[in-house]
Order: sequence, then structure tokens, then C-alpha cells
Amino acid sequence: MIVDRQGRRFRNLRISLTAACNYACTYCVPDGKRLVAAQDELSAEAMVRGVTYLIEAAGIERLRITGGEPLVSPKLEPLLRGVGQLGLADISLTSNGQLLSRKLPLLLEAGIRRLNISLDTLDAEDFRKIARGGDLASVLDGLEQARAAGLKIKINMVPLRGQNLVQAVPLLEYCLERGFELRFIELMRMGHLARDPNAFLQQFVGMPELLARIGERYSYVQAEAPLDATALRYEIPGKGFFGVIANESVPFCRTCSRLRLSSTGWLHGCLSSSNRHYIGDLLDKPRHQALPALQRLLVKALADKQEVAFSGGVTVMKIIGG
Ligand code: 5AD
Repeated sequence: MIVDRQGRRFRNLRISLTAACNYACTYCVPDGKRLVAAQDELSAEAMVRGVTYLIEAAGIERLRITGGEPLVSPKLEPLLRGVGQLGLADISLTSNGQLLSRKLPLLLEAGIRRLNISLDTLDAEDFRKIARGGDLASVLDGLEQARAAGLKIKINMVPLRGQNLVQAVPLLEYCLERGFELRFIELMRMGHLARDPNAFLQQFVGMPELLARIGERYSYVQAEAPLDATALRYEIPGKGFFGVIANESVPFCRTCSRLRLSSTGWLHGCLSSSNRHYIGDLLDKPRHQALPALQRLLVKALADKQEVAFSGGVTVMKIIGG
């Protein structure tokens, strides 16, 4: 097992199924261009082999499928079928929910039980302004169907000053009423936001301000979370839970256990590092050749992790999916 000086190791793998997305969220892509799949994306079979090798070489226990937007990819079905056979403790999926009602039968059949759905506002017009694609009604419809099917759902919201901050409490109430757990994600300095500090600072809303806003309406207490969780969890007694992923306010790099694989075959040991390590070529090789090479790259990827805090990175969420 590869472990660093801080006792960190890779335990959770996130695979970006495709860089393509049917949205163009303002904080993700600056120019509003819809994203398309990269030409050199791995096949579903290669990805499944990648997960298989990484389980053995890195000790991966849990898998999250991200994008881009994973539900737009034709690779979703073969990937789910493949990774479902690997004995992972958990397989979950992050999606913008636009195609959720259509893809729900496939997800259920593949044994997916947990979803993280991005939803930045309940206002249809603001939704279009932020997401620059899709429509709110379809997402809400998909969420109702997923809930009815018994899936465990977390909602991701990135609070942005002047855009959706007023929606923090309404979204929280929407989630509490439905048994969804809302995750506020502090805006991260990624991609264009890493290069433009002013744009970042204008929009950024920190955890203290967010909690104060919630505190005006509800009393909450700290709740339990796994040791390597990114979110601080809170309970509103009698009503439910919410969390804050406070990259800036309460850095959590010290306990990070994440490893990311891009849709084009690059391993990222840290979102805040511009280093990445190509494994696409290893995935065609038999196990005995691939594993030693993979292990050498994993040592490098682990060394890419920040000591304490996320400090910004040129990598963009659209590539790596959070
Ligand atoms: N900062 C914070 N969250 C972001 N996401 C995408 N880009 C950023 C950013 N710069 C969110 C998406 C999605 C999750 C995976 O990451 O909204 O919910």
C-alpha cells in the first residue's frame, strides 16, 4: 500500500466518464461554450481495466463516476456493468440531473444507490443564467423519481454572491422536506477562477457567512462525518442534515484520500496540482506489466497532494468532475 508522511493513501477513486457536458455553468467554463467529449477518451473497457488495476495497486475501495456530465455518455452502461463486478464497497455518481429521469432505470439496474446532484437554484430563470443549458423542471422531476425509487440523494450547491446566495435557505428547505442532504460547496479557485482572483473574490461566499444565514432561520449542531470526508456536517434537530465543503475556510487536504482519473487517461493525485500522470497506455497491458508501472505513478500522484490547503489549480472541474 502506498502511504505518505501524513498517513494519507488513496481510498476513493473518481472517474470522469467524459469531458462532455450539457451545461456550461459560469463557474466552470468562462466562455459559455458547451463541452464536447475529447477525441482521445478511454473506452469503457479501458476504464474498467483502470479501476481493476487501481483497486489492486492503490487499494481503492470506493468509486464515484463523474464527468463532464456522466449521463450524456454512451459509455455509462458498459462502465456500470463492468465496475459492478469488481467488489467495490460503494459506487456512486455525480450528475447535473438533467437526464436523470431517462437514465434512472439503468442506474437502478446497475445497483447505484447514492447520487450527488448539482442544483444551484430553484429559480428557473437564474438556473438558466448559471447553468447556461438544460432546464430546472427536468432536474426536479428526475429528483422526485429518484427519491421515489429509494435512492440516497445529496444535492451540491455552489453559493455565488449576487447570483444564487438568496437561494441557500430555500434550497435547504427543499432538501430537508425530501430527506436530501444539501452540500454547500465553497467556490474553488479552479480553471479561469484560478487565473482571475477578482472574479473569484467577487463571487466567493465563505462558510461563516453561509452558516450565519442559515442560523437566522434554524438552529443546528455539528454532526458526525467520516474521518476523510470533505464536508463538515450539521444537523438541524428533527429536520435533517446538511454539510459544507469549505475548501477555503476549513481546508481538508490533510485527510484527503481521493484519486482522480480523467476521461482521457490521466491520473490526478490532487485538484490543486497541475501535475498529472498518464496511464492510458498501461491499460492495454497485462496485469504483470501494468501494475509495477502504475505503482510508480501512484507514488508520484500521492506526492502531488497539498500539505494543508487547496490553493487553486489550473485543472477545471469539467475535466475532472469534482
Ligand atoms: N468551485 C466549487 N464547486 C465547483 N463545481 C464545479 N466547479 C466548481 C468550482 N470552481 C461543482 C459542481 C458540482 C461539483 C462536482 O463541483 O457544481 O456540483
